[in-house]
Amino acid sequence: MAQTEHNISIESPSGWKDYEIIDSGDGYKLERFGNFVLSRPEPKALWSKSLSDAEWRKAAHTVFHPGAGFGKAGKEDVGTWEMLKKMPDRWYIEYKGKDRLASEWSSARHGIPEESGLYLKLRLGLTSFKHVGVFPEQASNWEWIYSHTRKGYKVLNLFAYTGAASLAAKCAGVEVTHVDSVKQVVNWAKENMGLSSLDNIRWIVDDALKFVKREIRRGNVYNGLILDPPAYGHGPDGERWKLDELLFEMLEECSKIVSKENSFVVLNLYSNGYSALLADTLLKKAFGEQAGREYTCGELVLEDSFKKVIPLSVFARMFTK
Ligand SMILES: C[S@@+](CC[C@H](N)C(=O)[O-])C[C@H]1O[C@@H](n2cnc3c(N)ncnc32)[C@H](O)[C@@H]1O
Repeated sequence: MAQTEHNISIESPSGWKDYEIIDSGDGYKLERFGNFVLSRPEPKALWSKSLSDAEWRKAAHTVFHPGAGFGKAGKEDVGTWEMLKKMPDRWYIEYKGKDRLASEWSSARHGIPEESGLYLKLRLGLTSFKHVGVFPEQASNWEWIYSHTRKGYKVLNLFAYTGAASLAAKCAGVEVTHVDSVKQVVNWAKENMGLSSLDNIRWIVDDALKFVKREIRRGNVYNGLILDPPAYGHGPDGERWKLDELLFEMLEECSKIVSKENSFVVLNLYSNGYSALLADTLLKKAFGEQAGREYTCGELVLEDSFKKVIPLSVFARMFTK
């Protein structure tokens, strides 16, 4: 039997006061975001719930019910929220990075001033697509981005959504460019920047691939690249994004705008059932395995309070030593 060596890890957030999965099962997850508990579809929760249906309904402020098109291409994820208890349509959660928690601990103990560190404050809201504006499993990527962003880096976040990864890089005090094709989502990310007491992110509403091609022509180079592409999407001028067809081209184009030294790349994939090793091979083929480039890959998971582990996305990362 031939064996190949790979650096694979399974990662999940820890010590996050404002987020937990209380239970999961029967195609749903019961999550607490700050003071509010949501019951949402989770196609990967193939097992049974640990708590009873009555306990779920008692705990939840709201339950998402998929509409007729749920799961169908083009109409997927559309549905409605049934309100069980009063809750606002907008609320806030905080994420404090490991370094920040450690410095709070030592400042409380030794009376020294606390460092700013990795700190995000995010506005959440109930959308008709079952999303709330944050993907909590991504916290491991935020930590990695923050700890691999060195002084003087320029970081580019593509398919950047409400901006948590952009903010994580910004917390390291560097230049950050945030690209997403949806203006409302970019405005939401701007709001999160202000809430997190950060400023000066470069906001771009554009098709991600078109933007990267333009940066190649302009000769612009970045130290850090972050990509979290969806299965399907659209640029602002109707440019079609299809993961299966365009992902490798996108990565090859990205390899032309990443600096040879002092660089990192994070590729996150949450659709099409892609595996961590697939992400790893893609990244290695696009960015090359020359000396000094380290690759890791793995799965981002969340664990409910009954220890049932839900794998939610896969990642591959490259960094220069
Ligand atoms: C699910 S999100 C990624 C999640 C995000 N990285 C996070 O963890 O918060 C995918 C994003 O890609 C954006 N998008 C889709 N097609 C795009 C395109 N062609 N160019 C740029 N952004 C696109 C969507 O607007 C959406 O915000």
